[in-house]
Amino acid sequence: MAAIDVEPMPIKVETAMRTLKLSGHVGFDSLPDQLVNKSVQNGFVFNILCIGETGLGKSTLMDSLFNTNFESSPSPHNLPTVKLKAHTYELQESSVRLKLTLCDTVGYGDQVNKDDSFKAVVDYIDAQFEAYLQEELKIKRSLPTYHDSRLHVCLYFICPTGHGLKSIDLVCMKKLDTKVNIIPIIAKADTISKTELQKFKSKIMQELQSNGVEIYQFPTDDESVSEVNTTMNSHIPFAVVGSTDFVKIGNKTVRARQYPWGTVQVENESHCDFVKLREMLIRTNMEDMREKTHARHYELYRRRRLAQMGFSDVDAHNKPVSFQQTFEQKRSAHLAELQLKEDEMRQMFVQRVKEKEAELKEAEKELHAKFDKLKKDHTEEKKRLEELRKKIEDDTIEFNRRKQQTQHSHHTLTLGKSKKK
Ligand code: GTP
Ligand code: MG
Repeated sequence: MAAIDVEPMPIKVETAMRTLKLSGHVGFDSLPDQLVNKSVQNGFVFNILCIGETGLGKSTLMDSLFNTNFESSPSPHNLPTVKLKAHTYELQESSVRLKLTLCDTVGYGDQVNKDDSFKAVVDYIDAQFEAYLQEELKIKRSLPTYHDSRLHVCLYFICPTGHGLKSIDLVCMKKLDTKVNIIPIIAKADTISKTELQKFKSKIMQELQSNGVEIYQFPTDDESVSEVNTTMNSHIPFAVVGSTDFVKIGNKTVRARQYPWGTVQVENESHCDFVKLREMLIRTNMEDMREKTHARHYELYRRRRLAQMGFSDVDAHNKPVSFQQTFEQKRSAHLAELQLKEDEMRQMFVQRVKEKEAELKEAEKELHAKFDKLKKDHTEEKKRLEELRKKIEDDTIEFNRRKQQTQHSHHTLTLGKSKKK
């Protein structure tokens, strides 16, 4: 099939714009409300990835964050490799529906060799991007009803050692920072003292920075949230405490952990950063994380994948090319390659036939030579036998002659004797 040449049509666009005044109410000021209504109707999707060693309190924190019981069971901690498990839940708050997917690492940090602990996580994130890309590339797409499983945020649970990050933390976060919005959090922060915590936080931030790990920053460009987000950015990594127990304090029942020496209240801002995390993750920046996932991380994945498939917006001379042109080019290149392969195969076939023919000829020659030799041997043998026969015949004649002669002389002798008598 011949390649179709598609020349981009030059379209002149009028760019000058005039601002006009309306002389009465038109109604498009309701557009934001229309958007809100539509979004509420469709419901929202949010996917959280929790990475952290076994027993660091991932499940407990999720229960605390969404004020529910996700009924998760403790994971095994003797697996040979890291695995990921995901569960999707439908939550509703007033009229807003949220389809929440919680994805958890299983066996993270349990292996003796932790070199590629990040691999399962990277593969999982990529698999979700790939699924979305495949849906996008379909001819019959159904993106509005497609369950988007791309991960919007990664809560990275840091062990409360007080000594800084482990190498597994740095390696993993570095591998993920171009794929997902990372929010590092210090798990089980009630096990660390107040002065130690400040030092621990700055040590973590310094280590992240010196290793070039880019973590998610709450956006400060939107005026309505810029102040709170700026303050919150300075509190990262949030030191959190989770609990499934409730304690009565005064006349209120609160989520807390009770110790012989006192009570840690999960939602008390002077006890831990749990409320800050919830505010930032759910109330203020959920939409920003969803948007950044699509516009930044997915976009990067998509660009790389399409380039890998051989698609590009520009050709070798930096001139724009359309998708169709690339497709046609790919197609003709593929056909040419196919033709080349076919020619090669044909040549190889001819060569093989020639070789076989030569082999056969050689065999025939050998056979002929053998036959000739046999024939020669046979004639020689025949000649020899003939000679032998002749000799025997001659001998027989000679013998008979001698016999006769002998007989004759005998007869004469006998006759002579009788005459004498
Ligand atoms: P796996 O799913 O098995 O990897 O564990 P997980 O990370 O989900 O931990 P989980 O929430 O099951 O908690 C493990 C243990 O830690 C439980 O006994 C919790 O009560 C306890 N725990 C959870 N959060 C905290 C916390 O903030 N502080 C303290 N001190 N203990 C906690
Ligand atoms: Mg768990």
